[in-house]
Amino acid sequence: MKWIEVNTYEEMSEVAATIFSKQIQEKPDSVLGLATGGSPVGMYKELVARHQAGHLSFKEVQTFNLDEYVGIEQSSPASYFTFMHENLFNFVDIQPKNVYLPNGQAANLAEECAAYDKRIEEAGGIDLQLLGIGVNGHIAFNEPGASFDAKTNIVELTESTRTENAIYFDDPSEVPTHAITMGIHSIMKAKEIVLIAFGEKKLAAIEKLKSGHITEEFPASQLLNHPNVTVIYGGTN
Ligand code: GLP
Repeated sequence: MKWIEVNTYEEMSEVAATIFSKQIQEKPDSVLGLATGGSPVGMYKELVARHQAGHLSFKEVQTFNLDEYVGIEQSSPASYFTFMHENLFNFVDIQPKNVYLPNGQAANLAEECAAYDKRIEEAGGIDLQLLGIGVNGHIAFNEPGASFDAKTNIVELTESTRTENAIYFDDPSEVPTHAITMGIHSIMKAKEIVLIAFGEKKLAAIEKLKSGHITEEFPASQLLNHPNVTVIYGGTN
């Protein structure tokens, strides 16, 4: 695992954007794994700026998002579909047909989970996966205790995660109880992974990851078994 310590959120965003830009420039039809949350907003802004400056094209890029809430409309302001469009897709030349998010409104959610993993496989697998980390060590929506063998699946969100994510909803009671998420096994299949974390709240999670102890009680720890992970972090001391 490669560790890059940064001083500011902007620096973290820039370092991460450079890794993603290089990936796209070297392989224009890259398959990217993308994440939502406060952590990647700055990186997406930077990618948009590089695109607008003419340095980066998403024309052949395919993207797969990690997760989506179950039971809210795609068009809802709080859906991850909306988040991705408002932060990245609306401002770059990506083709709508190349954008994939799990469908949390599918009539048959189990089928949707299997189909999502299959779609990723058919695209040739994820070249570069972006991850944030929850304060309890969750990645995507894989909460503590999630099996390292899990593929895309439906999960019940913990109270801690629902509270953290309540800021995106008008009322905390509106935060969905379930989500559809790529499992740890699906995430580990990515050829390369970049994890970003900034701020005091993430301190404990980063320290725990650094300690090197691998356990399903701390989902991010499975990344220690992946051959190509870069952690860009800071603001934690
Ligand atoms: C959510 C997302 C995760 C994300 C985490 C941290 O639960 N499902 O993918 O990594 O929150 O979010 P933030 O970057 O806002 O701290």
